[in-house]
Amino acid sequence: MQFSVSTQSIETLDSPTLVVAVFVGNKGCVELTAAAKALDAAAQGAISDVLADETFAGKAGETLVLHRLTGVASRRVVLLGFGDKKTLDAARFVKTLSGWAAGNRAQDVALAVAEAVPESLDEVWAARTAARVVTFASSRPTLLKTTREKKAELASCAWLAAVENSDVAAALETGRVCGQAMLWAKTLQELPPNICTPQYVAKAARDLKESRSAVKGLSVEVLDRKAIEKRGMGGVLAVASGAKGDPVFIELSWQGARAKDAPVVFVGKGITFDAGGISLKPARNMDGMKFDMSGAAAAMALVKAASDLALKLNVTALVPCCENLPSGSATRPGDVITTASGKTVEVLNTDAEGRLILADALTRAAELDPAVCIDIATLTGACITALGTSMSGLFCDDPDLTAQLREAGARAADALWPMPMGGEYRTMLESAAADLANIGSAPNAGACVAATFLAEFAPKCPWAHLDVAGTANSMGFKKEGFARPVPVLLEWLLARTSAAKKAKAKKHK
Ligand code: BES
Ligand code: MN
Ligand code: ZN
Repeated sequence: MQFSVSTQSIETLDSPTLVVAVFVGNKGCVELTAAAKALDAAAQGAISDVLADETFAGKAGETLVLHRLTGVASRRVVLLGFGDKKTLDAARFVKTLSGWAAGNRAQDVALAVAEAVPESLDEVWAARTAARVVTFASSRPTLLKTTREKKAELASCAWLAAVENSDVAAALETGRVCGQAMLWAKTLQELPPNICTPQYVAKAARDLKESRSAVKGLSVEVLDRKAIEKRGMGGVLAVASGAKGDPVFIELSWQGARAKDAPVVFVGKGITFDAGGISLKPARNMDGMKFDMSGAAAAMALVKAASDLALKLNVTALVPCCENLPSGSATRPGDVITTASGKTVEVLNTDAEGRLILADALTRAAELDPAVCIDIATLTGACITALGTSMSGLFCDDPDLTAQLREAGARAADALWPMPMGGEYRTMLESAAADLANIGSAPNAGACVAATFLAEFAPKCPWAHLDVAGTANSMGFKKEGFARPVPVLLEWLLARTSAAKKAKAKKHK
């Protein structure tokens, strides 16, 4: 898949499919963009003629296909509606483009959508976001169906720009890399749990490193059961104890800055299947628990993207990875375990396993002296009850980090909503037998209680916990991985690198 910038005049540009943004205008009429007007003029009003007869109004996601317009070199022109221009935001831009890309069957396209940019954003943002969305939505993974039909995938995409701007070309590449990283995460998410085992996730990390053998700065270390025991990671061991296969603890790092610079550490929950353990889940929809490694996939994808973009940052993904299964060797409700931090935990419900493996990973994170630590986890059903499937839960006591992440979430159309921790929720975690219980004394506020549990183990630096139980994947029959929250976190990383660059430039003045 290739992206390029074209400054050719829109009517002479010869693309098999030319996509042109339009808006809803007054009285349900279509409001043409300058690009659409130029086409219409070249075609001697043929577009306005058709629009006069059509019900097409330019609503978000609406398309109208026009074939072989005289005076226009491209064979197919697709008018793509972006809705009301005045209220256009990042979310609608993303939804419109991804909807179009998911339905698109053309192999080569040109996009004239640079005028469909929300007011507070710019063309660089639009190019980056479009490339990311088109890359992600164009792929048609047919992983394990032997009777699949081979569908052509998008091969090239030209971005029509009014003026030459090298930042736009760079933005397309950034977006493409982000989309590719998301696809990598999506594949890991969607693979079934008999294939995507902890060993498989570890191999994916190793394979990434190997496929980039020429790249300095990317490194991977996989701790096996012995090494996990040696580090006293009692949370990981307790969760893994019901499964036949061994747990792994993956450390995937990108060093794009000086070795002594504090890293950004992402921690990802890597439960490749969550049956609940002895506190067994109900059978209905249990298959969806293959997605319980979505945090792991996202954390690893962020390091992949940071490496492919050669970001001038140090980024590490810490991924505790195992299965949560019932068996004669499984952890029992009532067992008391000792985590890597030394704190003891009374396991009252073996289905609250994510926090046990994350506790050990957060302890490991603290050893790396991070600048910022962000964990990503499909942690609680309660978060879905609280926020539904459009917003990920954001638990963070640092006002700056909270603001940065929420702004990045708005720009990436990958929203986060702030949620509370501590206080009463901490009291609910008191245990008569150990330092902490792994579930609350009441069934209320499960997402907040879980976050409060994690806070006990978090490093001293600014820390955020993202509960992506409702956002990482779709539920139901299709079971798609969405690779959220990769978009928001990559947008945040990019903002962080450009802020660092600006600070440096100022210093040297
Ligand atoms: N992986 C689940 C959370 C989950 C539930 C993710 C539904 C996506 C959809 C997690 O390990 C879990 O089972 N959490 C329990 C915690 C409870 C026992 C305190 C839950 O949410 O019910
Ligand atoms: Mn569980
Ligand atoms: Zn789980």
